[in-house]
Amino acid sequence: MSTHINAGPNDIADTVLMPGDPLRAKFVAENFLENATLYNEVRGMYGYTGTYQGRKISVQGSGMGIPSFLIYSTELIKFYNVKKIIRIGTCGAIKKSVKVRDLILGMSANTTSNINKTRFGGYDFAPTADFSLLQAAYQAAVDKGLSDKTHVGPILSTDEFYGHDEWLNERYASYGVLGVEMETAGLYTVAQQYGIKALAILTVSDHIITGEATSANEREQTFTDMMEVALKTAVSAT
Ligand code: HPA
Repeated sequence: MSTHINAGPNDIADTVLMPGDPLRAKFVAENFLENATLYNEVRGMYGYTGTYQGRKISVQGSGMGIPSFLIYSTELIKFYNVKKIIRIGTCGAIKKSVKVRDLILGMSANTTSNINKTRFGGYDFAPTADFSLLQAAYQAAVDKGLSDKTHVGPILSTDEFYGHDEWLNERYASYGVLGVEMETAGLYTVAQQYGIKALAILTVSDHIITGEATSANEREQTFTDMMEVALKTAVSAT
């Protein structure tokens, strides 16, 4: 067991899907995995292990924001020997060519967080996805007929959901950044620190610039698409 995860040494698979919302972890375990068992309830941050197409897979809630994400991902890597983490989440689009319900595969993650300025003595660091996971996820999206609505590129992980100004979104969008969320820069940083593989697969829940939003039904269908892409990635990447 570790400080925030109350699991035994072999309870967690070497590949873990991480939604922000622990109830999403429960939903994934109940609807997509076979023989799923609950290994963590500490702070209500559910973690489950089951199988998908015969492969052992875990799904662990991360909470919102880089600090929470870093707690769970670091413990998974250091104490449970996890080798691949796939974040599954939502983001707000900032680039006009990205539409709500589209899929974004985060190739790199800019951030308003100071984690890397702290880690690198004031200099910058470019948190980057693992290429083999990125390639497997893109292929899984193409195989599902989703190539027209799948975007691969940089994203922005902010520290604040409400706090930053519009001009910042527009500035990042003008540099080709596709969407905004709050965790991936933490994931890619910790993955590079420990030499494991990581990828963020995001569905676009709202468009920050155009104001377009999704209905609950639409979110459910896009969530299913994202899950199938994430699980295919988990079992197909080397
Ligand atoms: N900002 C940050 N995270 C998000 C957003 C957003 O607009 N939409 C979905 N996740």
